[in-house]
Amino acid sequence: MILVLGRKQVVRVDGARFNMMLRLLRFSPWVGLVVACLVGCRNAVDSGGEYPIGAELAQVPAGLKKQILHVLEERFGSLDAPRFELPDPEHAAELGWKERVAADRLTHGMSVYRRYCAGCHGVAGDGAGPASPYLLPKPRDYRRGVFKFTSTPYGSKPRRQDLIRTVRYGAKGTAMPDFKFLPAEDLQPLVDYVIMLSIRGELESLLARVAADYGEEDTIEPEVIWEQADLLRAAWDNAALQLVLPVTPRPAYTDESIALGRQAFLENECFKCHGRDGRGQTAWLDPRFVRRQMELPESQREPLNYDAWGQIAPAADLTAGMLHGGRRPIDVYRRIYSGINGTPMPGFAQKFADQPETIWHLVHFVLSLTEGRTFSEATSDEPQAGG
Ligand code: HEC
Ligand code: HEC
Repeated sequence: MILVLGRKQVVRVDGARFNMMLRLLRFSPWVGLVVACLVGCRNAVDSGGEYPIGAELAQVPAGLKKQILHVLEERFGSLDAPRFELPDPEHAAELGWKERVAADRLTHGMSVYRRYCAGCHGVAGDGAGPASPYLLPKPRDYRRGVFKFTSTPYGSKPRRQDLIRTVRYGAKGTAMPDFKFLPAEDLQPLVDYVIMLSIRGELESLLARVAADYGEEDTIEPEVIWEQADLLRAAWDNAALQLVLPVTPRPAYTDESIALGRQAFLENECFKCHGRDGRGQTAWLDPRFVRRQMELPESQREPLNYDAWGQIAPAADLTAGMLHGGRRPIDVYRRIYSGINGTPMPGFAQKFADQPETIWHLVHFVLSLTEGRTFSEATSDEPQAGG
């Protein structure tokens, strides 16, 4: 594979070069964006007009598959002529639904999406845009309906505002760029379009899972289809009401608070994933480290976790100066309180239910690491394992 960067530079991507590329893209979002635009725009033009069929639907017998595709087309149109109309017209009034987004607004969102996003996230939002193989973390596959940077409790959908924030400010330290330049007239329809791609994709896999219990000659009853669609609608609508607000006000950002945070970090297993120094498992992104690990028998390798999308998910390097989910204290609070959907990062809401201030102390400790304060003593008073 050859990538053309700018007019003169040609990078041949193979073996070691590939690894270099991967690291380059990881640390230089702009390079990712350039690659995405170069390869992406071309891809957007040949979308072929049809949604690619997801892995789950591919397993469904032909008759049922046809039925599901028909339902999806009725509700969401085709790839080039999108609609966003969840309810069955006959039952819309009964369920209190209306057409969610006008077609021309959606078409506008689609054109913005194809220009700026499809190169990474894929024309159909499956995360498989042409730049995707060179990126880690991978561009989000919206069809799973799982989003990391939310202001809602663990397992919930994002609020619309969360998606707007991600698009506006990007995810620092990943290839996801910021799109501060997009005016609201583009941003709002764009977000509608992303939500549509997500709901369409998730409905496809929900229906494919339902179909797994049916015989080849059966058809899925309309009631069952509305039920699944309604579940999704409710999940997205409920997210709007589930904003996570801190239980206690934020204490002052003092050395004392940072020290308490550091103590909690060492006492609550944060260090098991993020390391005592907060550097996380990012060594796994270094090809030499990976090679050395692979030479060891499996039982002796450093632990490594995977995310919901099947990719390696090393614990974040909190000292890197770039928090993917935002560096406002409230962002870090929510990452710790709710955990991060689809990743090994657990939520600590339960754990600190009777000492809510501790979450703020942890936030302060994390911020102090991000700001580059070092804690040489962090390794000297090791607590007992599991302590
Ligand atoms: C250069 C590649 C690239 C481009 C271009 C790009 N993204 Fe992303 N995007 C990513 C990556 C990588 C992630 C995953 C970040 C992570 O997992 O931490 C991501 C994540 C996301 C997420 C998920 C956030 C969450 O909470 O999980 C959304 C939504 C998103 N992008 C929307 C967009 C939109 C809309 C556009 C176009 C305006 C766009 N992206 C353009 C690479 C890109
Ligand atoms: C089981 C392993 C694990 C444990 C335990 C854990 N984390 Fe994490 N943490 C992760 C992973 C993995 C990520 C990166 C998620 C992703 O892919 O974006 C993460 C991300 C984070 C982030 C977000 C960083 C960013 O870039 O925005 C913060 C903050 C954080 N962890 C703090 C903590 C704190 C504080 C604790 C203890 C109370 C803790 N973590 C415990 C695995 C863990």
